[in-house]
Amino acid sequence: MQNIVIESRQLNMPKLGLGTWPMVGDECTRAVVQALELGYRHIDTAAAYENEDAVGRALVESGLPRKEIYVTSKVWWDKLTPSDMRRSFDNTLQALQSEYVDLFLIHWPGKGWDLVRTIETLISIKEQGGARNIGVANFPLPLLREVVEVMGAPLAVIQVEYHVSLAQRALLQYAREHDMALTAYSPLMRNKAAEIPAIRRIAEKHGVLPTQIALKWLLEQPNVAAVPKASSRANQSSNLASFNVQLDDDDRAVIASLPKDQRVVSPEYAPQWDPPT
Ligand SMILES: NC(=O)c1ccc[n+]([C@@H]2O[C@H](COP(=O)([O-])OP(=O)(O)OC[C@H]3O[C@@H](n4cnc5c(N)ncnc54)[C@H](OP(=O)(O)O)[C@@H]3O)[C@@H](O)[C@H]2O)c1
Repeated sequence: MQNIVIESRQLNMPKLGLGTWPMVGDECTRAVVQALELGYRHIDTAAAYENEDAVGRALVESGLPRKEIYVTSKVWWDKLTPSDMRRSFDNTLQALQSEYVDLFLIHWPGKGWDLVRTIETLISIKEQGGARNIGVANFPLPLLREVVEVMGAPLAVIQVEYHVSLAQRALLQYAREHDMALTAYSPLMRNKAAEIPAIRRIAEKHGVLPTQIALKWLLEQPNVAAVPKASSRANQSSNLASFNVQLDDDDRAVIASLPKDQRVVSPEYAPQWDPPT
């Protein structure tokens, strides 16, 4: 049974989800069906991944009631005018063969955008019932504060890169203080976490995989969820089994002492990031 990240705001989001980028087409459908068979109940997709239709087919093929699966999707940063955003959102629902998404995120901050109108549109998508909850991804703290505190947007989730080698202390503290979840993307550092000697030593000590150490470190933190992408049955299963790993205080101290400024996702359209604290 997967833990629920936070229950307030009716979020009820399972802590471990399946990341789906860059899978598309049948490969993506197969991977999502397989994950749902293994017990995953949280799937992370986005309009920009061009796989919402493949995810939608998997939701149907799984035979599970839609309400048992937590589905997140996102709108791309060049589709943030009210009309573009609504069109993108309608396409998302159609591709997912769903009447709603559990969580709808702005994927990246826009450029030269009308922030107020964008956030009003996001809120109205929630108020009209198309998204059970709303949030943002890749927003630095000052922008998140403006949206939450100045605009009063009822955000439930901030999704950002977070793993053993990247600190997100300020955002995480903010999320906890405002009853939000922080979803960690690239939680395995796109495979680099398993290569860190200290992580490998901790894994050896417990007789588990380095990837499981990296994931359990995230999953045991209050208000934190993680969406590792895995395509094979073996990797999906072992990631799910990371819930069973027990870290001790020595392990946590070793992980705390790792360099915390190793960002693996920073495209040209990224905002100015918060300093890693
Ligand atoms: N909001 C955003 O801007 C944003 C940005 C990036 C990512 N994301 C989301 O976050 C998800 C995950 O991030 P990511 O894909 O960047 O990186 P990741 O999850 O850190 O790493 C994925 C890589 O790890 C491998 N892997 C997974 N489990 C493994 C295991 N147990 N043993 C060995 N290798 C394993 C996968 O290989 P196999 O596939 O072969 O299993 C894949 O190559 C994405 O799929 C996407 O949904 C969001």
